[in-house]
Amino acid sequence: MSKAAITGIHGYVPDYVLTNAELERMVDTNDEWITSRTGIKERHILKGEGMGSSHMGAKAVAGLLEKLNIKPQEVDLLICATTTPDYVFPCTANLICDMVGIRNVGSFDIQAACSGFLYALTVGSQFIETGKYKKVVVVGADKMSAIVDYTDRTTCVLFGDGAGAVMLEPNTDGFGILDSIIKSDGIGQNHLFQKAGGSRYPPSHETVEKRWHYVYQDGPSVFKFAVKNMADVSAEIMERNHLSGSDVAWLVPHQANKRIIDATAHRMGIESERVMMNIHRYGNTTAATIPLCLFDYESQLKKGDNLVLAAFGGGFTWGAAYVKWAY
Ligand code: ACO
Repeated sequence: MSKAAITGIHGYVPDYVLTNAELERMVDTNDEWITSRTGIKERHILKGEGMGSSHMGAKAVAGLLEKLNIKPQEVDLLICATTTPDYVFPCTANLICDMVGIRNVGSFDIQAACSGFLYALTVGSQFIETGKYKKVVVVGADKMSAIVDYTDRTTCVLFGDGAGAVMLEPNTDGFGILDSIIKSDGIGQNHLFQKAGGSRYPPSHETVEKRWHYVYQDGPSVFKFAVKNMADVSAEIMERNHLSGSDVAWLVPHQANKRIIDATAHRMGIESERVMMNIHRYGNTTAATIPLCLFDYESQLKKGDNLVLAAFGGGFTWGAAYVKWAY
């Protein structure tokens, strides 16, 4: 049976860099606190009237197609993971397809907060494994700056904007996404969420006044769940694929907090040199963190490398994937 192999990767972050120094001038925070508690030094912010997650997603997909010399009309399906869609509808995947010239094929969004890319990768790989499609694009794109309250120091230092995209194609030589686990638990719904803007609390003067259109996070509670579940699911995927720490070439973790990443790596027996990390440059870009890591480290990856991808996010949602790198 074919597996879905990642055959290319591309990333995009907007030009504007929001540094810790600039945040110090906006809220009561400081570089020392942000760096020591999160590992973040700067993040990129999408500026410009009418610019949304799709614009960054489209840049990532256009770059991917160009790099692989694949024409838009060869793509069979595009899936976009996002928590910050341009509109409630149509979906962001739809808009990205339009921007890059992909037409008359399926496209849809997946919403699993910071685990979105891992979920989308798992879903996309099924279409390849069943033999239904030959070229599936999976994008993670988030403009977190659209829902971050830049007067709330507990959240505004954490997030950034960006996008990353991968191409999935069939592989019968043992490379690709060999296993994945996705999980969720609604116990997290009040610890990390955006209260208004959906059908429970549609936009109103009251929701705006109460600042319910912004990210709310009970950081310490989320931290505890994230540390445990990201480590547990990574250990689970290693165990069931008979992998020890030394078999794993790279841990590719969601970039929410360096301390969560360190705890996961420690549990897996993986030293820091084999952990992809770019949180210091981008912050938490939600669905874009994992593809942006793969993009940044692409030149260091070797065919046959065992990768464990791991994520945790709002919901709660979490998961892991075991990937044998195909090129
Ligand atoms: N600058 C200075 N001080 C701050 C800041 C700041 N930016 N933010 C909070 N503080 C203060 C707090 O007010 C608190 O002060 P107090 O002790 O006087 O009350 C103190 O620092 C400690 O605050 P904590 O919230 O306990 O700090 P913690 O060590 O937990 O770090 C953080 C906070 C970074 C948010 C951490 O809890 C975390 O990373 N949580 C998990 C994030 C995550 O994984 N999210 C899931 C993915 S995101 C998604 O799905 C969209």
